[in-house]
Amino acid sequence: METETVESSGTVTLRGRWKDKPGVVERLEEAGITIVKSASSADVFLVEGTPAQYIVNQARRANKEVLDIEVYLAGLSVLENAQAAPMVDFPRRSAIEVGDGWVRILDITLARNNDPGPLCPPASRFASFTFDSPTLLAARTIALGVRYGLPVLLEGETATAKTSAIRWVAHLTGNQLTRINLNGQTDTSELVGRYVPSGGLPEIDIWAYKAFIEENADDSGVNLSPETEALILKACAANEGRGRPLTQVEVQQIMANETLQQPQWGFLEGAVPRALREGHWVILDEVNLAEAQVLERLNPVLENPPTMVLTEGHGTRFGGGGGVPVHGDFRMFATMNPASYAGRTALSPAYRDRWRLSSFLTSPGEREMHQMLRRLVFGEQPEVIWRGVVYQADAGESLYPELKEVEGIDELLRKLSVFHASVCAAAGSGGSASIGRTRRERYTFTRRTMLAAMDLLGRLTTEPEKPVTGAADVATIIEDILEALYVSRLQDQADQQSVRTAMRAAGLAQER
Ligand SMILES: Nc1ncnc2c1ncn2[C@@H]1O[C@H](COP(=O)(O)OP(=O)(O)O)[C@@H](O)[C@H]1O
Ligand SMILES: [Mg+2]
Repeated sequence: METETVESSGTVTLRGRWKDKPGVVERLEEAGITIVKSASSADVFLVEGTPAQYIVNQARRANKEVLDIEVYLAGLSVLENAQAAPMVDFPRRSAIEVGDGWVRILDITLARNNDPGPLCPPASRFASFTFDSPTLLAARTIALGVRYGLPVLLEGETATAKTSAIRWVAHLTGNQLTRINLNGQTDTSELVGRYVPSGGLPEIDIWAYKAFIEENADDSGVNLSPETEALILKACAANEGRGRPLTQVEVQQIMANETLQQPQWGFLEGAVPRALREGHWVILDEVNLAEAQVLERLNPVLENPPTMVLTEGHGTRFGGGGGVPVHGDFRMFATMNPASYAGRTALSPAYRDRWRLSSFLTSPGEREMHQMLRRLVFGEQPEVIWRGVVYQADAGESLYPELKEVEGIDELLRKLSVFHASVCAAAGSGGSASIGRTRRERYTFTRRTMLAAMDLLGRLTTEPEKPVTGAADVATIIEDILEALYVSRLQDQADQQSVRTAMRAAGLAQER
């Protein structure tokens, strides 16, 4: 991560209202930190509280990070402790703490909206979430971006929690989220807005028209066209005479028959202007699938502070002293797969640089997979060491309480994670891939595969007719599930055999 630069031999520059805080200079000097005036020779800008915009801009020009003085000092003392103390003596802290109007994720505290709007992701989405190290560190990068108003780009293989981590931080902080799934066909109108008939089609009151038809039945001068009459009478007769609304096509036919005025066209704002007005978070998902000119249109909203001019419509100007102020909660995020994926382009370095914070999420390995399985079955969350503190999220509810009781389940979960990791390694990129090496696109085995396997296991072991509790029965069921989810999707016999070998190696298949 490019944000972690705290070092005890550091050089810093103090900005903003730091003088309000007594003893800062002394504490920094005591820690061996050099304080300088010039931005270019400092490693980092230190501020008290939230930095003013001009400081953020200055730091950006100097390509430096802005950090809160306390966060920086805390980082220093943790580093010192880490060198002095053995692992077991690390201080412990809850990974996530929620208060009234605030939330802490690891060492970063953010404001929290206690009364979130309808687009805030609900807790139910995260019932099986494991707060492992990659997930918490991704959330921390997101939190830094939120705190300092910097756009965040998350890169990683499929199913490395890029989208979920952003969703989860939005959930925790009570922010509304709009996800835009980009692809080669996405055009700017989806992001920015498009022209639609303003006010839609006219309302036609079928009963008023019917009354008119009846009143004028004898008067040949002011009749509606026969076709219109037929449409109105048909709609009135529907539902045993209770009537039904006209369809859009019928309204259009009537408008044409009676030469009614076409409605005016108006500009309907898209997801991004709405987010700017209402302070939503926006995820540009799979950003490297989009055409460059589509992304360029969004460049001004990646600036700090964001601005946007809608050249369409009424030329509405957001931010920068324009007509519509940008809501303070507005934030931009993007996710992408590595450029080696099919159809993906590498983002230009200049474009990438617009995303001030970026982080590469590593794929979950054997350890993370094991932690996830234990989370699902026992509810327990893993310990994560970050800057000399052992963080752990509060235990959640078991998703499979029945499995908890199965004899030897601990060992089975460990074997499953060994198996999954070895299949991932065999299918992975690089010269060592052995599964699917003749294919253009690699096979991917992810958290999703393992979550699906556990879902099946949970269901198959709790069937009311024949609940399963014996370790041997569970082992047989697991073998079937792995055959279905990991083996049968492979095209080549040889690949299927490799996966079966991995099953045997992990002790998850009987020799036959
Ligand atoms: N830390 C986690 N613990 C449990 N499940 C997770 C975790 N992170 C992601 N998942 C699950 O893995 C799947 C892929 O996550 P997602 O965020 O969509 O990945 P990405 O956006 O990187 O492709 C989803 O089903 C999600 O619920
Ligand atoms: Mg995603």
